[in-house]
Amino acid sequence: MTEPRHTTNNAGIPVASDDHSLTLGANGPILLQDHYLIEKNAQFNRERVPERVVHAKGGGAFGYFETTEDVSRFTKAALFQPGVKTETLLRFSTVAGELGSPDTWRDPRGFALKFYTSQGNYDLVGNNTPVFFLRDPIKFPDFIRSQKRRADTGRRDHDMQWDFWTLQPQTAHQVTWLMGDRGIPKTWRHQNGYGSHTYLWENAAGERSWVKYHFKTDQGIECLTSEQAARIAGEDADAHRADLWHAIERGEYPSWTLHVQVMPYEDAATYRFNPFDLTKVWPHADYPLIKVGKLVLDRNPSDYFAEIEQAAFEPTNLVPGIGTSPDKMLIGRIFSYPDAHRYRIGANYNELPVNRPKSPVNSYSKDGAMRYTNAVDPVYAPNSYGGPHASTQAAGEVASAYGVEDAVTRSAYKLHAEDDDFGQPGTLIREVMDEAQRERLVQTVIAHASNGVSEPVLERVFEYWRNIDKETGDKIAAAFGK
Ligand code: NDP
Ligand code: HEM
Repeated sequence: MTEPRHTTNNAGIPVASDDHSLTLGANGPILLQDHYLIEKNAQFNRERVPERVVHAKGGGAFGYFETTEDVSRFTKAALFQPGVKTETLLRFSTVAGELGSPDTWRDPRGFALKFYTSQGNYDLVGNNTPVFFLRDPIKFPDFIRSQKRRADTGRRDHDMQWDFWTLQPQTAHQVTWLMGDRGIPKTWRHQNGYGSHTYLWENAAGERSWVKYHFKTDQGIECLTSEQAARIAGEDADAHRADLWHAIERGEYPSWTLHVQVMPYEDAATYRFNPFDLTKVWPHADYPLIKVGKLVLDRNPSDYFAEIEQAAFEPTNLVPGIGTSPDKMLIGRIFSYPDAHRYRIGANYNELPVNRPKSPVNSYSKDGAMRYTNAVDPVYAPNSYGGPHASTQAAGEVASAYGVEDAVTRSAYKLHAEDDDFGQPGTLIREVMDEAQRERLVQTVIAHASNGVSEPVLERVFEYWRNIDKETGDKIAAAFGK
């Protein structure tokens, strides 16, 4: 028989009661000396950290990634060498909804992956779509505000969403995807994940390639209709959290097969699309998928707050052999995430067990709120006393000067031969979707635009869709008698 465990306060001191405050007589006033009562309520008042400004609602699980193929000709990153198995954390999320919002709202899904590699943490913070609404980070706050809540009513508002989308035609590809069948996955397990941005890979010989990541679900793609999603939202707002949790509890470990598209470094300048424009894909016929390995989720978190809410993903975390590209959105994100974590969790967020690398940390950072690992002398670099020293070779920094010109400018990307906002979403409608899918897309847009969208925004909605695909636009307009 195990010894009974006695409640203590946070200092480990046994407390007298879980039920009653200390009072002067049964009906008398509460005494200030009941420090346990005060600690309990003060702690409760501080239970929340700010929710993520985007991607607030989500869930996740731990697992591993195994590199099953040989891609060492493209990258020297330790985690992508043949046979290497790396612990991972994957967090799924919706974008615009708050912490308690339903999992089944129509929205892209976050697919944020942390690899605890032998060379430090590698974070691939992607979505379930290979493209995004924007191509310049200066527009991100405007875009997100238009998808969240109005200042006056405090409500989400379709007029605001379509106003922004139609004034920014760069959104057309992502919006077409979102209004299509894949706009609402059946579960987090039944969707693909994409790195979305173009990254730079470097092999041991210093040769460079551009790369895009595709995690294809091994469960098969399955989606919800708007009606199914609305019903589930009412029945169980946490349906996707529940699905992932129960699947792992049952031992049905979801998995994804990682493929990459690899573009030779020199192709970028002359490729028919700007390969760094996040609103574009690289068609498979140009750059076919190359298999890399398998991602498996096999362990649920044991404390959602400690391991999921406080998980901090950042595109900043790139390991030797992997670098950024001239994608302006990616560069913008390099600033945003660590900044968000310092505000949301605190300066020492990387000390928390879920964020702490499994490889040695020899950082010169020290002190700050809630620091608990000891700094060791010498506390400065360089020093004469055997402290760590930086090494270009160990860092393997993949810094690219690609595209650098001497003019400082505020300008759109230079256009490549086939760059425009409507071409690829038009291809998606005409060449990838079948007739039934096209009809569902039209109905989804009609339903969405029927809900509070006013003139002149509505007129622009018809034009937007006619630009993507004339027939689709005409059908949408016809439903409004236009
Ligand atoms: P392919 O015919 O080689 O590929 C079509 C892609 O579209 C497949 O990856 C397929 O995914 C995916 N798809 C199928 N139905 C939908 C849907 N309702 N919504 C979104 N994606 C869907 O064509 P291309 O590579 O030439 O690309 C054509 C268009 O396909 C692009 O303009 C883009 O909109 C879309 N697409 C392209 C991707 C790429 O990286 N090239 C990736 C995903 C979409 P699956 O194989 O899983 O069924
Ligand atoms: C979360 C900013 C574009 C995927 C976040 C957060 C911020 C942010 C501030 C909250 C971080 C936190 O508090 O933990 C931006 C900016 C962008 C951008 C400024 C553009 C310039 C994108 C794109 C993708 C993406 C293009 C996907 C391809 C995610 C995901 C999360 C997230 C998955 C949630 C991560 C998690 O699970 O904790 N973003 N974002 N974001 N973003 Fe972005």
